Amino acid sequence: MNVLVIHGPNLNMLGTREPQTYGTTTLAEIDAQIRVQAEPLGMTVRCVQHNSEGAIIDEIQAAVGTVDGIIINPGAFTHYAYAVRDALAAVPIPAIEVHLSNVHARESFRATSVVAPACRGTIAGFGHVSYLLALRALAELLARKAS
Ligand code: DQA
Repeated sequence: MNVLVIHGPNLNMLGTREPQTYGTTTLAEIDAQIRVQAEPLGMTVRCVQHNSEGAIIDEIQAAVGTVDGIIINPGAFTHYAYAVRDALAAVPIPAIEVHLSNVHARESFRATSVVAPACRGTIAGFGHVSYLLALRALAELLARKAS
């Protein structure tokens, strides 16, 4: 099973970015933990980070035919990027939306996700563990699809 993990804008700053909200774990450390958890689940993971919307859309489109599942933290694009939502809706690949913070307990604009309708589900509020939970959810989902 091939999984594509997409980190959106500003997530390359994790570790030093608003640590009171996002913790002190760096993106490289998160990716390493994802890979450790992926291995026993029989998953091969590719992790990418992009600050631009177009690059994220290109990744989603290029995933067709090679990727079985997508885990995406769209960062602030979550709240207004209809083109990212349309890209996810355009491909036959199940996606899970992830957030480090509990977006529902913050500013009101963060409570809206325009990408959520194009995803199978959302995991938010568990720090970097949100990604690990998403990986487990994706493993369940893909196993059910295969049986
Ligand atoms: C975020 C939440 C977004 O509102 C914010 O713009 C981010 C990070 C999170 O992971 O909690 O960049 O996606």
